[in-house]
Amino acid sequence: MILTISKIIPKDDLTEIRELVGMLTFTDGAATAGATARRVKRNLQADLTHGAGRVWHARVLQLLRRHPVLRTAARPQRFSDLRLSRTEVGGGYGAHTDNALMRTGTTTLRSDLSFTLFLSAPEEYEGGELEIDWPGMVPSIKGQAGDLVLYPSSSIHRVAPVTRGERLVCVGWIQSLIRRDDQRQLLFDLSSLRASLRDGRATSEVELLTLDKSIQNLLRMWSET
Ligand code: NI
Repeated sequence: MILTISKIIPKDDLTEIRELVGMLTFTDGAATAGATARRVKRNLQADLTHGAGRVWHARVLQLLRRHPVLRTAARPQRFSDLRLSRTEVGGGYGAHTDNALMRTGTTTLRSDLSFTLFLSAPEEYEGGELEIDWPGMVPSIKGQAGDLVLYPSSSIHRVAPVTRGERLVCVGWIQSLIRRDDQRQLLFDLSSLRASLRDGRATSEVELLTLDKSIQNLLRMWSET
């Protein structure tokens, strides 16, 4: 499943988060890529381990963790450390696949889902689309500032070269309680249906209860804790 979640960062928070970026130090992003990806990665990454960088990291992660749609779509067990990437003219990220296992703190995270949180508005730069190889098509994604796109880490993907301006995004990975994408999608569909039926109130309690029972029992069957 590829899912764009609009305005995951509210406007006021976005303004402050972008202002904070001005206080951060950026270095060559190739240092954090795996051996294969390093050859095609051309961007800059902020130090989020000290001072203002730590504050920035905690603030963005808190907003992501709390977001109800991201929680339902991704069923996060753990988040990776976030990365803040700036891509200038001539930069980009060639076709690559993300490492399956990532060091996060003192433990290893399995990347089930990747996400890109757009921090620049699309009119601030040209090029820089996120392209994901998908059966029968290659979606080319350029979100509004504050939008997040969630996609399977198992895909081959790339960032088109930036030809004008500057592209600022936050990227990260999620280890999900539900390892398989198709199972996660089914649970997301059923949970979305439950939410809309609750809003409509036309459905009887027993129908809602049966739907809820099915969702809970699928979670019991499929979750890894
Ligand atoms: Ni990637």
